[in-house]
Amino acid sequence: MPILSTLQRYETKFAKSKALFERARKVMPRGVSHDQWFADPFPIYMSRAKGSHLWDVDGNEYVDYYGGHGGKMLGHAPGAVVAAVQDQIEKGTQYGAVCDLAVEWAELIQQLVPSAELIEFMNSGTEAIMYGIRLARAYTRRDKVVRFQFHFAGAYDAVSVGNKKPFDVPVSAGILPSTVKDTVVIPMNSEEALENALKNRDVGVVIAEAAGSSSGVVGIKPSFYESMRKLTTQYGTLLFFDEVVTGFRYSPGGVQAAVGVTPDLTALGKGVSGVMPGAGAIAGRKDIMDLLLLKDEEWNRFKRVSHSGTFNANPICAAAGIAYLKIIATGEPTRVANQKARQLRDALQRQMDERRIAGCAYDSGFSVVHVYFGHCNRMGPCDRAVCLNADKTRDPAAGQALFMNLALNGVKTPTRGYDAFLSAVHTEDDVKKTVAAFGRSLDALLEEKKLPQGN
Ligand SMILES: Cc1ncc(COP(=O)(O)O)c(C=O)c1O
Repeated sequence: MPILSTLQRYETKFAKSKALFERARKVMPRGVSHDQWFADPFPIYMSRAKGSHLWDVDGNEYVDYYGGHGGKMLGHAPGAVVAAVQDQIEKGTQYGAVCDLAVEWAELIQQLVPSAELIEFMNSGTEAIMYGIRLARAYTRRDKVVRFQFHFAGAYDAVSVGNKKPFDVPVSAGILPSTVKDTVVIPMNSEEALENALKNRDVGVVIAEAAGSSSGVVGIKPSFYESMRKLTTQYGTLLFFDEVVTGFRYSPGGVQAAVGVTPDLTALGKGVSGVMPGAGAIAGRKDIMDLLLLKDEEWNRFKRVSHSGTFNANPICAAAGIAYLKIIATGEPTRVANQKARQLRDALQRQMDERRIAGCAYDSGFSVVHVYFGHCNRMGPCDRAVCLNADKTRDPAAGQALFMNLALNGVKTPTRGYDAFLSAVHTEDDVKKTVAAFGRSLDALLEEKKLPQGN
């Protein structure tokens, strides 16, 4: 009997998703509402989530490794957060005034995040980046923004270069060259490149994903944290960490607490509100954040940084954020998720090695596991933790095939199967199932000649 191809199995197993996609395309341009959710030939439509698991419209169950785009350290619908939201929803969702809970929420963040002298709430990571840059430009009176190759920073136009090659071309149509003319993209981990970019003293802010590009696909070498801090201070530039993913994951206080380097500004998202929709905040130095103060007319009109937003610090996010951060503050979720990531990393590596597949599984030093297929050209020893090889490329076709096969075997990753965000509620059984699914997926990819061999 002929073996069915990945595509044939995908179309059969996810028949209801396929039908829903046909309907969706008539009302939504690509049938989804986020580029990362689209999968060729159609996305899988989910209908329920609990703990480390997801269920789709066909009734298939998955171990989930996208976890609210990296935010869900406690898995889906954690009891304490659900109870807090249920209690609050009866009391209102938006008061058109500041809510009482916002103060406790901010106090918790202040206790956890070293750069959080003051906190300003907003509605997404993208907004946190946007307002962080606005604050930095207003504070330094300098226009230029420096960012690093391959780093992601959400959807704000001014940071819409640098994430993809070619680095000087915006990642999307519709972004004016004038919007990115002051955004300078440089390689990560090069003190020389950073100093060259800063030495004219016209850069307002250096922004970095705090654990390296795409949550550590290419990491940051430990000494570069010190270099970023030292050089930005030396040239009067602000240092801005994007901790939208790493914030309450890498450690309860994010990367900055773990590496001991405090930026001037931090963008927070996702976990800040217990991954309730509307997650965003800036945590920053008091003298910068004070640009948000309201004073006399002259100051308010010409000098201050304005900020509005209907759902800023809404009571639902505040209630969820408080419940979530109290648990994060114990440090236990970080410890468990890190341990599970290491376990998964090692087991995935064994699956590749057993099949003599050229490739690597590494954990980026915290609870996110990345897979790379191919020979690594990096010189020197490697502990499969932080990967500094910026030259590796991850083949989209193999990533897509991996995603499809993992899904067929009950494992849900981002739409390229290369990344896995662990949580404190992933179980031994989840990891075991995932490893078996990865092995079966590798066999299918080998069968379809989608992988390099001969490690
Ligand atoms: C590193 C990073 N920064 C910023 C953002 C943007 O956050 P949001 O999707 O909440 O706008 C994301 C989102 O995935 C992210 O991963």
